[in-house]
Amino acid sequence: MKILLGITGGIAAYKAAELARLLTNRGHGVRCVLTEAGARFITPLTLASLTGEPCYGANADHHEWRPSPSVEHIELARWADVVAVVPATANILGQAANGLAGDLLSTILLATQAPVLWAPAMNTAMWEHPAVQVNLERLKVFGHTLVEPAEGMLACGEEGAGKLADIEFIADAIRAVGSPRLPTLVGKKVLVTSGPTREDLDPVRLLTNRSTGEMGIEIARALRDAGAEVHLVLGGDLAAPYGMETTRSRTAEAMMGACAGLWPGMDGCIAAAAVADQKPQSVAAEKGKKGDGPENLVLVRTQDILMHLGLQKKPAQWLLGFAAESEHHLENAQVKLAKKNLDAVFVNDISAGKGFGHQANTLTPVLAEGPQAPLGPLPKDQLASALVAWWAARVEP
Ligand SMILES: Cc1cc2nc3c(=O)[nH]c(=O)nc-3n(C[C@H](O)[C@H](O)[C@H](O)COP(=O)(O)O)c2cc1C
Repeated sequence: MKILLGITGGIAAYKAAELARLLTNRGHGVRCVLTEAGARFITPLTLASLTGEPCYGANADHHEWRPSPSVEHIELARWADVVAVVPATANILGQAANGLAGDLLSTILLATQAPVLWAPAMNTAMWEHPAVQVNLERLKVFGHTLVEPAEGMLACGEEGAGKLADIEFIADAIRAVGSPRLPTLVGKKVLVTSGPTREDLDPVRLLTNRSTGEMGIEIARALRDAGAEVHLVLGGDLAAPYGMETTRSRTAEAMMGACAGLWPGMDGCIAAAAVADQKPQSVAAEKGKKGDGPENLVLVRTQDILMHLGLQKKPAQWLLGFAAESEHHLENAQVKLAKKNLDAVFVNDISAGKGFGHQANTLTPVLAEGPQAPLGPLPKDQLASALVAWWAARVEP
């Protein structure tokens, strides 16, 4: 993706260097445009060195970084797949909301047809000022995306809203805004489950599994990028991605409750969560003491979420599951597909420690007519995109 990163004159400008590095390392083409005020906080040399591209600016000092004396603002406006302004000052928000084009960045913002994303950062009183809020509303009317600032300790010493959002979160938002859509998934409501469940034994001990939740999160991101409206039901500790409703669920029972409530309103579901099949019969109120002899743990079955969703599935809905198998992978997946009324099962070979927590992974899709060509081996983010593209090519528009 070609990302034009606008950097304006706030203290958080130093964080834009980290963002430029992160986006470049992820394989994106990144070109920075620095305002005059921005150049007082961070240098063009830093940004050019991190991105391997010239850093563009409006003042004479930056001329040496310009590749050609052509109509730079139009070239850059056309080059970008997405324009992200990080950090965005109150000043640039005001300029863009009112169509002012006083320097290179504000002129690009008028000239571009690419999606525009804002990550503002400023003092709390400035952030809450009606002028800033009205400007933001106007920018949203133009179709621009806002990544809200976080609350926290600000550089001015005050505590409140106005702190630049987390850099990883902004990078995720840029990806969501700038990715090409997949027509069959645009506007589709999709439920994604992800992560482990945790079943308490007592106040300090629990039963869980080795799932991290990463694969499901990457699938949720890939669906979001494709244009789907995703609702993520998430176990584990990983951060919720940008741009989707997320319901945190700790136990199998909580996950069941969330999924059962959401499913009737969905077009489809990809169930990637590693849900516990058993839970302790009872949860002790106090921490258990060690005994002398052998100790027994009595487990009871949890409800099967996938089976429930399969039974409730309406003809227009689709339901995709995973099978983490250590033996007879494809045979077991075929049985699961039929028994749980699924449209496809992705088989994850977890023999010899493969699968959980590993970066490169392979998934074999199994349909009613039989196993399909494997997807991967690929890192989880790319595998998730491959899986979503594979399904997008099969699903009805
Ligand atoms: C030390 C310092 C810190 C500043 N921090 C911010 C800030 O965090 N957010 C903001 O909106 N403006 C901040 N400003 C004000 C802007 O730099 C000023 O409005 C400038 O004209 C913005 O120009 P630009 O939008 O073209 O970069 C700060 C100014 C100074 C001197």
